[in-house]
Amino acid sequence: MRMRINKLLDRALIPGNGGELLFFQRNEDYTIEVVGVTGELMTTAHHNSEDALAELALKKLKNTSEASVLIGGLGMGFTLAAALRLVGEKGKVVVAELVPQVVEWNKGPMGERAGYPVNDPRTFVHVGDVLELIRSGQGRYDAILLDTDNGPEGLTQASNDRLYSHRGLRSACEALKPGGVLAVWSTHPHDPFTRRLGMAGFRVEEQKVFAHRNKGTRHHLWFATKPMGR
Ligand SMILES: C[S@@+](CC[C@H](N)C(=O)[O-])C[C@H]1O[C@@H](n2cnc3c(N)ncnc32)[C@H](O)[C@@H]1O
Repeated sequence: MRMRINKLLDRALIPGNGGELLFFQRNEDYTIEVVGVTGELMTTAHHNSEDALAELALKKLKNTSEASVLIGGLGMGFTLAAALRLVGEKGKVVVAELVPQVVEWNKGPMGERAGYPVNDPRTFVHVGDVLELIRSGQGRYDAILLDTDNGPEGLTQASNDRLYSHRGLRSACEALKPGGVLAVWSTHPHDPFTRRLGMAGFRVEEQKVFAHRNKGTRHHLWFATKPMGR
C-alpha cells in the first residue's frame, strides 16, 4: 500500500498583519496555506496560470530578452521561473517576497519543482513589500507581475489593498517604462478593478486561463499596458 504523507513542515508569521502561513508536504506535493482561510494559497500540484502570468505579459513587450521585470511575490517560484525562461542573459528579474521563510522554502526541496529560480544569476530577491519597490521604481520596469493574494482584494495582507487601489495602480504605471505591462493574477474577475486600471491610465486586456491543463478551474488575468509617450 502507498504511504500517505501529510506533514506540517514549517510555519511563518506574515510580517505586519499577525496572520500566519503553514507549509505542508502532502504526498508528492507541497502546499502553503493561510491560517483561518479555507483552501490553499499555493500548491506545487498545478501552476499553469502562474506561468501564464509571466508568459503572456512578457510576450507583449517589444524587447523581452533585455526586459527588466518586477514580481510580487515569490510564492513557489513558478512565475519567476517562467519569466526567467523568456528574458535573456541581459534581462533582470527582481522578486519581492514579504515572508522571509518563503524565500528559505524555495531554497529547500520544494524549490526543485520550479527549478530553483531564486538561484539564477538574473534573479534579485527583495525580502519586503513589493509596494516599496513599485513606489521607488520611476520608469524602471518593462513588466510588473503581481500575484500576492487571491485577487485584487488583500488576503495574506489587508494592506495589499493599497497595491490595487487607484493610488497603487498610478504608482505601478509610473514605475513602468512607456509600453510596459502590469499583469495581475486573480481567482475571479472583478469589474471595479478593471475600471480602476483604466482610470489609472492603462489600456486593459483580460484573459481567463486554466489552472491545470486544459479543463476545470480557470483563473483571471489582467494585462494593463502603459501607453507609449507617457
Ligand atoms: C499566491 S503566492 C504567489 C505564487 C507565485 N506566483 C508562484 O508562481 O508560485 C503569493 C505570495 O506573495 C507574497 N506576498 C503577499 N503580499 C506581498 C507583498 N505586498 N509584497 C511581496 N510579497 C507579498 C506571499 O507571502 C506569497 O508568498
